[in-house]
Amino acid sequence: MNNFEWDKKYDVGIKQFDEQHKQLLTALKDIYKAMQDKRDRLALAQIINNLKQYADEHLSIEEACLLENSYPEYEEHVRQHEIFKEKLEKFCEDFNSDKFLLHFELAVFLKNWIVNHIMLVDRKYTDFLNSKGLY
Ligand SMILES: [Fe+2]
Repeated sequence: MNNFEWDKKYDVGIKQFDEQHKQLLTALKDIYKAMQDKRDRLALAQIINNLKQYADEHLSIEEACLLENSYPEYEEHVRQHEIFKEKLEKFCEDFNSDKFLLHFELAVFLKNWIVNHIMLVDRKYTDFLNSKGLY
């Protein structure tokens, strides 16, 4: 079983982002579970749409915060987000073209991407944002 649970080690030290990252993992878990339970297409479409909306919202909020605080690695960070958004877009496309088998793989891929991004890329802004008084 793939683990979509939140772990303390994913903490980036900025409360609002930690909450949003938790929500992202929960949304992915919901998708994975809905696929396992063979929920109907409409239900899946709804859940996938929720994830996409939530992910776009979160990434925008994070980017706005980094830009506002003149984060030195802003450009690179945004570039990483763009890659993720492309993958997510692909996930939605595959869903719409009935490539069901890909969904499990992609759900796991997206989860791993998020976890890696949090631990390797997001983590880099922790000290920086903390030094700007953000926690
Ligand atoms: Fe990020």
